[in-house]
Amino acid sequence: MKRAALWMVLAALVACNKAPRQEEPAKAEAPKVETPVAAPAPAASDAAPANVETSAAKLVVDEAAFADATPASAKSIGHTSVVFKIDFSNGQRAAWKPRSKRGKVRYKGEIAAYRLGRALGLPNVPLAFPFHVAKEDLNKATKGKDASLLDEEVIAEADGSVRGALIPWIPKLEFYPVETEKSRAEWEPWLFKGAEIPEKDRIIAADISTLIAFDLITGNWDRWSGANLGANGPGGHLLFIDNDGAFFDPVPPGPLAKQTALLQRTERFSRSFVEALRKLDGDALSRAFGDESGEPLLSAAVLKGVAARRATVLSIIDKKIAERGEAAVLFFP
Ligand SMILES: Nc1ncnc2c1ncn2[C@@H]1O[C@H](COP(=O)(O)OP(=O)(O)O)[C@@H](O)[C@H]1O
Ligand SMILES: [Mg+2]
Repeated sequence: MKRAALWMVLAALVACNKAPRQEEPAKAEAPKVETPVAAPAPAASDAAPANVETSAAKLVVDEAAFADATPASAKSIGHTSVVFKIDFSNGQRAAWKPRSKRGKVRYKGEIAAYRLGRALGLPNVPLAFPFHVAKEDLNKATKGKDASLLDEEVIAEADGSVRGALIPWIPKLEFYPVETEKSRAEWEPWLFKGAEIPEKDRIIAADISTLIAFDLITGNWDRWSGANLGANGPGGHLLFIDNDGAFFDPVPPGPLAKQTALLQRTERFSRSFVEALRKLDGDALSRAFGDESGEPLLSAAVLKGVAARRATVLSIIDKKIAERGEAAVLFFP
């Protein structure tokens, strides 16, 4: 989406006073999330052919490429979050979301979403990992141009380093406008009404179904605000980008209710995703998120919420399977 369009979305959110305050997640107010109009019950359908790619694919470069990287130049590119585009001295490029006053733990949402996606075998969530940058190095890399943002928002540790999430740069990132009326007119019948899905759209249809379940589990309130779904992932997959509105405690109730309603209306799911989700319970779920700087990445309270929403997702899907049969509901491979 064009920058101008993004500003319009942001301006609209601000005008409606619905945007969450950019501070501690627990205090955040929920933004408006549009929910599609009600749909009739879906027709029973045959399972999709087994040509939908669901295997995990490596996105861009890996963590090792940034092992000794120091910022050479950087600039602020965020719309709602504090995020910098950094070019490193070793030639690598990445987006970096620091710990900031707009939400001290929001950067963790990017890391947690990637780790959850990886544990579920999804190719959709871009790599994001913990990465510290010295505030002074960042200030130099921005040539002082973002000094006020750094002073007012970015939170440094006692040693001057700043925690954050590094997301290797996705070249030529394109967006899938999932939230627009035009796009909805296309994908809603595929997922809500059992409509025929053109061969070329099978991967996208399966990915939107998985996105709806994934975002309910992570509690991401920000997916439907525009420009938060990439279109050019590996193998033609959608990219679930911008996950720092996820894993809040508590999850803003308005968007959560709307996400639950979206899942209720979804009648086709990916079999491999649902199977992986069933296996990811108890300890396996907490292990999936791992640590950051020697501490659990997510707090016990956030983890408890994730476990509860995972159970909700599975119970909604299981009810559909009981009503319509596994072949119809686990439609995608
Ligand atoms: N890893 C990345 N690769 C390419 N572009 C990115 C990446 N991360 C962010 N961007 C660009 O920066 C914009 C803002 O990042 P985003 O994570 O969506 O933060 P915000 O919360 O401000 O919307 C995105 O819309 C995208 O254009
Ligand atoms: Mg965004």
